[in-house]
Amino acid sequence: MAKVSALFVCTACGASSSKWSGRCEACGEWNTIQEEAPLSAGPSSKSLGRAKGRTVPLSDLSSKETPPPRTASGLSELDRVLGGGLVPSSAILVGGDPGIGKSTLLLQAAAQFAQAGLKVVYASGEEASAQVRMRAQRLGLADSTVKLAAETNLRDILTTLEAEQPDLVIIDSIQTMWVDNVDSAPGSVSQVRASAHELTTFAKRRNVSVIMVGHVTKEGQIAGPRVVEHMVDTVLYFEGERGHQFRILRAVKNRFGPADEIGVFEMTGAGLAEVVNPSALFLSERAQPSPGSVVFSGIEGTRPVLCELQALVAPSPHSQPRRAVVGWDGSRLSMILAVLEARCGIPFAGLDVYLNVAGGMKISEPAADLAVAAALLSAREDSALPAETVVFGEISLSGALRPVSQTENRLKEAQKLGFTTAIVPSGGKAADASGMSLVQTADLTSFVGEVFGA
Ligand code: TYD
Ligand code: MG
Repeated sequence: MAKVSALFVCTACGASSSKWSGRCEACGEWNTIQEEAPLSAGPSSKSLGRAKGRTVPLSDLSSKETPPPRTASGLSELDRVLGGGLVPSSAILVGGDPGIGKSTLLLQAAAQFAQAGLKVVYASGEEASAQVRMRAQRLGLADSTVKLAAETNLRDILTTLEAEQPDLVIIDSIQTMWVDNVDSAPGSVSQVRASAHELTTFAKRRNVSVIMVGHVTKEGQIAGPRVVEHMVDTVLYFEGERGHQFRILRAVKNRFGPADEIGVFEMTGAGLAEVVNPSALFLSERAQPSPGSVVFSGIEGTRPVLCELQALVAPSPHSQPRRAVVGWDGSRLSMILAVLEARCGIPFAGLDVYLNVAGGMKISEPAADLAVAAALLSAREDSALPAETVVFGEISLSGALRPVSQTENRLKEAQKLGFTTAIVPSGGKAADASGMSLVQTADLTSFVGEVFGA
């Protein structure tokens, strides 16, 4: 029998090595390597060659088997993120911080899918059936036909599923599941990987859709669901700020739909409510125009979403001024500060700079560059932008402004919400301005002159 040697696995990226080290060579994270028991060299590892591999001509598939249609849950924000509904026999991972509302979302989704005609099993390894039932009662879903299973042994769950033959199974969470041919504890990388593998294979073989919940912890104590990301068809992240009631479901990978799509929910006393008009929600807390506040017209997936950027610039008591960003990319902020300094001669040395995207939104588009620059300048000059103004555009290192995609959609959304002016890069296809008055500038210097009169 082959010698079973110890295995060391990175809890952040899942890379394995034969020896321990302080830093993972694959992803560069520190203190993430843990010892794991390897998969036992049981009979399953010898099965190579015995399985009957079979190939099917592609042309046969297309004529005979048209894929069954997607099932919409009726929760339109969820369906949008899934790319138009649940694809049969797909594997989906829903990641997020503990306590953000994953179980709530999935219980609601389970009930909705059941109402849409699917047979749904909700397997909870975290809560007893009675607790799940209590939650369902609180959410007004006690009459749902969803079947509950409080179980952590994956083999038992799979046996149950063989008998029940559901269309959809929800596993809450993958970190509580364990299979018996892996010796390490539930939540370890090996267990998470083995369980996810069994589940996804089961999903494809038995035509069941699987939704797995995965906790992410910043410390990387529990195996991050990243090791699972490669195995599934769709990866969704459920995010939000603890203090806010807004929750954003974001697609980061989707084999069956657009990635980068978001669905917006609000956590209420009776569970998660859909937010049909996210722009209105993100702007709802905005008071009168104030220095440092700028409205950005962004695109999230397939739809425009307006949100407020807030900047604060203040003399720094430290020798190293602070740069703090929430909801945007820190290195992109440094770049914009550098461009403002080098191309427009506006220094930020000796000043602390804080940037926040209101409402717990996260923006990754470079189209927000100009809005960020506007917020920084507005905070620095202590002068508010004119009311009812939106800003968007990309800034290049030369200080030139570049038009961005979907200008027309961005303008339309702004107009819908009562904005009258847009500050945008010149050029692009903004000619049809849908009734908004446009302030177009070609570079950052003329933007500063135009908007701040400097
Ligand atoms: P939960 O779904 O248990 O989070 P997760 O599964 O991601 O760990 O949600 C936990 C939080 O949601 C908890 O702090 C209470 C809050 N909550 C509400 O505000 N309203 C509700 O109706 C429910 C069920 C939960
Ligand atoms: Mg939970």
